Amino acid sequence: MLKDGFDRVIDYIRVSVTSRCNFRCIYCMPNTPFEWQPHEDVLSYEEMFEFLRLAIDEGVKKIRITGGEPLVRKELEVFIKVLSKYNKNLDLALTTNGYFLKEKAKILKEAGLKRVNISLDTLKKDVAKKIVQKDVLEKVLEGIDEAIKVGLKVKLNCVVMKGINDNEITDLLDYAKDKGVIIRFIEFMENERAYPGIKRVDSKEILEEISTKYNFKELKKENEASKYYKLDDGYVFGIIEPHSEDFCKSCNRIRLTAEGYLIPCLFFTESYNIKEALRKKDIKKAAEILRDVVRNKPEKNDWQEEKISDRAFWETGG
Ligand code: GTP
Ligand code: 5AD
Ligand code: SF4
Repeated sequence: MLKDGFDRVIDYIRVSVTSRCNFRCIYCMPNTPFEWQPHEDVLSYEEMFEFLRLAIDEGVKKIRITGGEPLVRKELEVFIKVLSKYNKNLDLALTTNGYFLKEKAKILKEAGLKRVNISLDTLKKDVAKKIVQKDVLEKVLEGIDEAIKVGLKVKLNCVVMKGINDNEITDLLDYAKDKGVIIRFIEFMENERAYPGIKRVDSKEILEEISTKYNFKELKKENEASKYYKLDDGYVFGIIEPHSEDFCKSCNRIRLTAEGYLIPCLFFTESYNIKEALRKKDIKKAAEILRDVVRNKPEKNDWQEEKISDRAFWETGG
């Protein structure tokens, strides 16, 4: 079992299979050029699998494939098949912008994917175009429908921004409720790549807005990033509040980047290069690095408003 210095069991790994994305969301990487990434810079699926096998053998139960946009990487379904064959009980999940799901949902499900979290920040075509910098809403909505249709467990993620989509909170909730899927509203996490001037909406304000239409009760917090709430009719929605004091207490995750770094925490400057060990098939060394990362996982994220510009923000979107 992997346990960190604060008695947290690490049983969840987020694997970014590419840092590239076909979207340019204003809160994520609005100005990043669409560059090709040389193949040798990125871990192969085989190398990622070598690492994940180690982690699974050490007790990891949940693997989430992220990006960038994971579905821009070719043959993701083959990677998923290998993982699901290795351990049928894995909680195997994907975080995606939804754009390619119409074509890919079925094949991903058949490969063994169980769950998919899809970004949906607005139900308005013009607002989507403003957030993503591309006309995508229709395809994303079709992708959501397809994922539901093929039997994947779907959650929606909505980053709430002042003056942009905060007037759609209850509409988005109703959309998700109607589809029978959980929606989670996420506090925007300030980072230096995002458009300056985006203002976050705090969880308190989000809940206040929902309370204008619905009564709800907070559910007991599980070992997850999200808090969940139940409406009187039983529908469950979530709030992710990375700015809150106790957010890191139940953290159970580390991440592997496409470039072969292990990252102990989303908002932390430290990283551990595991690429060389994996390339050399030095599994003993890779296992050592994995244990080091877990041992050195910080108690809390290093988040401070005034420090954004010198902070690493490791994840692009995922
Ligand atoms: P579930 O397995 O369905 O609970 O998904 P998840 O919440 O673990 O993953 P998802 O990819 O849907 O991420 C949702 C939000 O949580 C995103 O805004 C992420 O940036 C944020 N998030 C994920 N991991 C971390 C983390 O380690 N630290 C912080 N601060 N935020 C995180
Ligand atoms: N703040 C909060 N959430 C973000 N996401 C991407 N960038 C940010 C940010 N700066 C969300 C995406 C996706 C999820 C994995 O992370 O919308 O749903
Ligand atoms: Fe791409 Fe997701 Fe970032 Fe948007 S939030 S640019 S979809 S990685």
